[in-house]
Amino acid sequence: MNVDTLIDAIHTHGWCIWDDFLTPEQVSELRASIPANWQQSGIGRDMDYVQEARVRKDKIQWLAPEMGVPVQYYLQQMEDLRAAVNRHLYLGLFEYEAHFAKYEPGDFYKKHLDSFRGQSNRKLTTVFYLNDHWVAEDGGELVMYDLDDQHLAQVAPKAGRLVVFLSENFPHEVLPAHKRRYSIAGWYRVNGNTGDRLDVAR
Ligand code: OGA
Ligand code: MN
Repeated sequence: MNVDTLIDAIHTHGWCIWDDFLTPEQVSELRASIPANWQQSGIGRDMDYVQEARVRKDKIQWLAPEMGVPVQYYLQQMEDLRAAVNRHLYLGLFEYEAHFAKYEPGDFYKKHLDSFRGQSNRKLTTVFYLNDHWVAEDGGELVMYDLDDQHLAQVAPKAGRLVVFLSENFPHEVLPAHKRRYSIAGWYRVNGNTGDRLDVAR
């Protein structure tokens, strides 16, 4: 997989899996640069900040360049991807936001869409996995569906794997993990106002 095949896959299928997007060394450096202060995830920027434990159990931390060189490198990779996708697919992706997520054993994220057509400006989702030696018994798969609720794929959160999909087109869920599970979920956004509110990142 390379940027051209990714763009092809997004154009044709709306989603793709890119294995070995980063090397094992880069993955462990990234994992080592996660600070210790996790926060409980909430659901949706446009709702009240509800800690909706029935839907989602993971803890998160927003990526920031201050977290160090590996995080800066990751953000630069995502910026390069943004530029390439814009050149070829004209999605008008404007900026990127991403968080580390930690799922403890038993944690899950029920089926959801990252973005509802016309209601959000998240256009393209990325999920990158940081888990070495992940095996089937560890659970925690990302399950992808189409808008008709047809099961598309079950994706193990293996280190180095990047999943990219159109945010409005693919409901998905994270099955309960049986081992601690780390990922980086991120979204490319288009610039725009939602309703009468000024649209600021996060
Ligand atoms: C999300 C999400 C998937 C994953 O954070 O919105 O769907 O595999 N994450 O971590
Ligand atoms: Mn999601």
